[in-house]
Parts: sequence; C-alpha cells; structure tokens
Amino acid sequence: MKNIILTGDRPTGRLHLGHLVGSLSQRVEMQNSGKYDEIFIEIADAQATTDNFGNIQKVKYNVIEVALDYLSCGIDPSKSTIFLQSEVPELSDLTFYYMNLVTLARLERNPTVKQEITYRGFDKSIPVGFMTYPISQAADITAFNANIVPVGDDQLPMIEQTREIVRTFNRLYGDTLVEPKAVLPSKKACFRLIGTDGGAKMSKSIGNCIYLADSPEEVEKKVMGMYTDPNHLKVSDPGNTEGNPVFIYLDAFSKDEHFKKYFKDGEYKNLEELKSHYEKGGLGDIKVKRFLNYVLQDILEPIRLKRSQYEKDIKGVYDILFSGSDKARAIASETLFKVKKAIGLDYRNDEDLIIKQSKKYDN
Ligand code: TRP
Repeated sequence: MKNIILTGDRPTGRLHLGHLVGSLSQRVEMQNSGKYDEIFIEIADAQATTDNFGNIQKVKYNVIEVALDYLSCGIDPSKSTIFLQSEVPELSDLTFYYMNLVTLARLERNPTVKQEITYRGFDKSIPVGFMTYPISQAADITAFNANIVPVGDDQLPMIEQTREIVRTFNRLYGDTLVEPKAVLPSKKACFRLIGTDGGAKMSKSIGNCIYLADSPEEVEKKVMGMYTDPNHLKVSDPGNTEGNPVFIYLDAFSKDEHFKKYFKDGEYKNLEELKSHYEKGGLGDIKVKRFLNYVLQDILEPIRLKRSQYEKDIKGVYDILFSGSDKARAIASETLFKVKKAIGLDYRNDEDLIIKQSKKYDN
C-alpha cells in the first residue's frame, strides 16, 4: 500500500507558533523524510465558509496568507501538493453520498463540533452546512486515498468519523475507500501551544498569538509581555516552571545549541539547568524572557526571509495553488468515479444497462 498524507487548515488567519509546533514542522519533516509517496495539503476554504458564510472575503483573502506561511516554513511545492478545497468540486459530490452513511445523532456527539457550536453561538440554530463539515472532511481525506492524517488532537473526532464512514461504505458497497489514521505531533507537550497569556490555546480572537510573519519587534514585545508564574514576584523568589508559559515555550522551541550561543560563559548548558535555577530562586523573568526572545528570533528569522522572497511573487504563489488544485482534482475525480461505480450510479460505464433496458422495452 502507498503511504499518502493528507492534511489541511482553514484559511481564516495567518499561521502562528502554535501551528509551527503543532503541525507545520512535522509536515516539513515528513515531506523531507522521503518516506511518503504523496503529500497533499489542503487549504480548506470551503470548510471555512461553514462558519464564515457571512464573511467569505475573510476566507478568500487569507488563502494567500496561509499559502505564504506554508511555503516560508519549508513546504516545497515540488514535493507536496498544496491545493484549494473549493477548486475540487468532486469533494462536494463525495460528501453528498457519505451523508447517507452518518446519522444526525452521530454528528451531534462529535465533541469538537459541540464545542464549536457553543463557541460560535450556533446553539439556537445550527446551520446544516456547519453540522456536516466532519462528513466533508471525510471526503477530503478519502478522495486522495490518504492513509495518514497528521493533525492536532482537536481533529481526532474528525478522523474517527472518517474511519466510520469508510468502514460503513466498504461494508455496504464493497472495498473501495482507504481507512486513514491520525498522526499526532511528536512532542506531546506541544499538541496545542498555550497563548502568550497562558490561555489554553493560541487564538486569533483572544490576541495571544505570535505569528510566523510578525516582525522582530512585534515578537520581542509579545515575549516581554508574556505571563509567567504569578507568585514569582522578586528575583530571589523560588519560581514555578510547570505551567509557566515562558518555560512551556522554551520546552517547545529551545535546543542545547541556543544555550551555547546565548549563555557564552556556560551559565546554563540546557533547559534543565535554567529551570532548576528558576525553581530555586535567583533567576528573574526578564532574563528568561530575553533568552526566549533570542530563541524565537532564531527560529523565525529564516521563515521571515523566505516569506519575503515569496511575497515578491504573489502571482507565482497563486500559480502554485492552481496547479496543485488541478492535480488534486484529477485524483479526486478518479475516486469519485470509483465511488459512483461502487454504489451503482455509473450509467455511462455500465455497458449492459442500455442493452438490458432496451430489451425490456422491446427495442
Ligand atoms: N478541520 C481542519 C481545521 O480546522 C482543516 C481540515 C479540513 C483538515 N480538511 C481536513 C485537516 C482534512 C485534516 C484533514 O484545521
């Protein structure tokens, strides 16, 4: 069996550090490992309309931002196919047939959907399109015969829903679809990077994100303003590193080489040493934040540089999206063909159909 990856993001804003640890780094690693036969990365603009139908322009104009963020992080269009969901209408056709295989009660049990309904204030009247997006996500995955779906843990219910659809489909109509499995980011602590304010998640609407495209000044300002241990008031106080946003970020981003580079006198050789000093007392937040700022600048600088290159050729970036979409469409239509044949709606390719029906009517 081929190893095929499919994953994606809704284009509702620029990507941030949470995306970098949660998904982008892993995608680039997988891409460059050479272990996978195909990699598809979907910009899920159609899915994004399910909760932004009153503001499609926001979705439309964020497509290029997400594409620039992908490319600047090292997604290489010669190795990975980046495509636009709305450019592959076959996905909607697949969704339509999959809808028959899912009950409303099952959709209502999806914990991620439940949360989003509350968050969006859809409690009183849930749009049908929104309710069915997990089914459309199953179409995204199965259309490309993907067996591997790298996602954050909030997406696990979607992959489970997809697996159920695949099993039901194959049982009813014969072995046709590939059952995928989710792959979570490797560093468990980084699943979902908390916000700079210590909030559960980096979120655009809360304003606690560091964006990949932030300027060096913006990054520094955000780092220096980060929450730390609220009980660590004086430098001499013992501090808590557990649950402390600054240390969570250092866990996610710092490497021993950063310690060598920024603590030249060998003051701290690694994160363990820094943490233990903080816990004992005598290490101030400002010093730790300054170090985190250096670490983040080191990581973001090459990304920023690459982004500025691509920003000089926006048409070229759209061309990447359009040719990726053409390739994706060709594959999705093969799957749709197989699906329609499996369920029996294959008029043009059923050679006996016309003969049989003609006989019935004596012609
Ligand atoms: N639901 C995902 C998100 O909100 C985006 C997405 C759409 C996706 N289709 C997908 C992710 C298929 C993985 C596989 O970020």
